[in-house]
Amino acid sequence: MQFAGSHILSIAQFERPDVEHLFAVADRMQPYAHRRRVTKVLDGAILGAMFFEPSTRTRVSFGSAFNLLGGEVRETTGFEMSAIAKGESLYDTARVLSGYSDVIAMRHPQEGSVAEFAAASRVPVLNGGDGSNEHPTQALLDLYTIRKELAGRGIDQLRIAMVGDLRFGRTVHSLCKLLCLFDGIQVVLVSPAELRMPPSIVEQLRVAGHKVLESEVLEASIRHVDIVYSTRIQEERFSSQQEADLYRGRFRLNQSIYTEHCEPNTVIMHPLPRDSRVTARELDDDLNDNPNLAIFRQTDNGMLVRMALFALVLDVADQVDRHARDVNWYTGGRFDGL
Ligand code: NCD
Repeated sequence: MQFAGSHILSIAQFERPDVEHLFAVADRMQPYAHRRRVTKVLDGAILGAMFFEPSTRTRVSFGSAFNLLGGEVRETTGFEMSAIAKGESLYDTARVLSGYSDVIAMRHPQEGSVAEFAAASRVPVLNGGDGSNEHPTQALLDLYTIRKELAGRGIDQLRIAMVGDLRFGRTVHSLCKLLCLFDGIQVVLVSPAELRMPPSIVEQLRVAGHKVLESEVLEASIRHVDIVYSTRIQEERFSSQQEADLYRGRFRLNQSIYTEHCEPNTVIMHPLPRDSRVTARELDDDLNDNPNLAIFRQTDNGMLVRMALFALVLDVADQVDRHARDVNWYTGGRFDGL
């Protein structure tokens, strides 16, 4: 694909060489994300961050990634604070806001809304999640993390269990589509029967030649995998809290289950937020000291991948180092070991 000037709406846009190119650029962002160097390559550029659904890490990491490249961020959050509350269409909002910014990152509760917005936008739009459809940048940072965690082993022949709300979880939808670009993957899909992965996505995995198993039992499904990818019950997509309560807490991974059932180096991932309420706890806090818990490495890696996407979409990937200098303030050791 041609990154420069493109919208990033779906994993369907990517081919394997695009992913490899993106990851190579992400690797080169390390000195900047890890606060050893500062670049001003996007000095003067503006990101419009439009988040019409709750978001902490995606919103802040898109914004920080843009700041780390030297650009500025304008934010809109929530319908009630925007003209959409006055009945403005996505078309009009897109025409207007694309005159104010150079690139837009957007999240919206409706499936297909970000693509509709992008069609009217005069600048590239990055999908930060459209309803339960897709979350492409999360899948890219997840795969980048998997590649790093498996240090040199590569993605082909990966064994992964995805656990939880596979019906409404957009991150696992995008991740499955991304895995279709690789070879010989084994995917175990663990969910309540009512929250199974959409059949069209299961079919895509099979067409790609991957082995897919569906299960309702956690313990037996995580025995022979490299990655356990846990997800939260997406309660905001259910018609009532009571309905979500039926599924919350159904699959809980904690240290004793991990010790008993997982291989010693199985990596634990989650797109976050994990639901830490007693009724949920899909990933228990007692895993916090487990060195294979990669959830905070995922969020750190997200910065690299989102910086790389901005650099590619705005066509400055080869200019980043030319506009750089060393950091001159205390940065501590918070990125040691990454
Ligand atoms: C996810 C999302 O919004 O889809 N969060 C994220 O962006 N990291 C997952 C979730 O909300 O459960």
